[in-house]
Amino acid sequence: MLDIKQYKAQVTEAAEKIRAELPAGTGVPSIGIILGTGLGKLAEEIEVEKALPYGELPNFPTSTVESHDGRLLIGHLDGVPVLAMQGRFHLYEGYTAHKVTFPVRVMGGLGVETLLVSNAAGGMNPHFRRGDLMLITDHINLQGANPLEGPNADAWGPRFPDMSEPYDLELRELAKEKALEHGIKLQEGVYLSVMGPNLETKAEYRFLRRLGADVVGMSTTPEVTVARHMDLRVLAMSVITDECFPDALEPVSLEDVLEAAGEAEPKLTRLTRAVVVTIGEGVAA
Ligand code: HPA
Repeated sequence: MLDIKQYKAQVTEAAEKIRAELPAGTGVPSIGIILGTGLGKLAEEIEVEKALPYGELPNFPTSTVESHDGRLLIGHLDGVPVLAMQGRFHLYEGYTAHKVTFPVRVMGGLGVETLLVSNAAGGMNPHFRRGDLMLITDHINLQGANPLEGPNADAWGPRFPDMSEPYDLELRELAKEKALEHGIKLQEGVYLSVMGPNLETKAEYRFLRRLGADVVGMSTTPEVTVARHMDLRVLAMSVITDECFPDALEPVSLEDVLEAAGEAEPKLTRLTRAVVVTIGEGVAA
């Protein structure tokens, strides 16, 4: 079983190291961002004051996926202080749910209050098209793992955290408003997470669609679960990288997924920037 005391100590150690690396006179940003597949380029828009490779942070896992860099960025996005994870961890890499969510615990420990999450996902809703963006309104965790398993750290959050509205309504309204302002089509729906790494069979897509999901992916629910456990506000968006219609399913490669993510990235980047700026102005705070 997980040694929760040791795990907490590891989180504290990593947080202290990051705090020590903060540029002089800089407070800890209140906005954390997880740059998944499709939002990596946002990192280029961040005025980076400090880039900390995960390998240099105590107890951090290191990313094994080539399409994900592994660095924690401290800086400003359009003048708003942010802490961004360039590269995230997935269960399919072999990490436990506790490892996958370690950086979120660290962000929470540092004082991050709002977490923005992005991911690549397969679209099962027949109204969705490759390249669309989707605002996540709710999720279904079918990963067979839970980052809250084991002893609860009461200082972080309750044993049985509420999940009636994991994705902050105010932030969702803000994202929709900004999407409209910028002329960006923004779908809305339910994200379902699986373990991966294989994509689904036709029968699985048919099954998952019937469960009530609009898109399927291999990340996000662990981080969001932990963020909600710590009472962080969460906003999450998916880039639809492939169309998962069981009666017309085409083979999909990682290259296809990355290409679609790359094409949709400017929209997601623009929208995220607009949202961050407004949060920074305190309008949605
Ligand atoms: N299934 C699961 N995860 C994914 C998919 C998919 O079709 N596309 C991108 N991530």
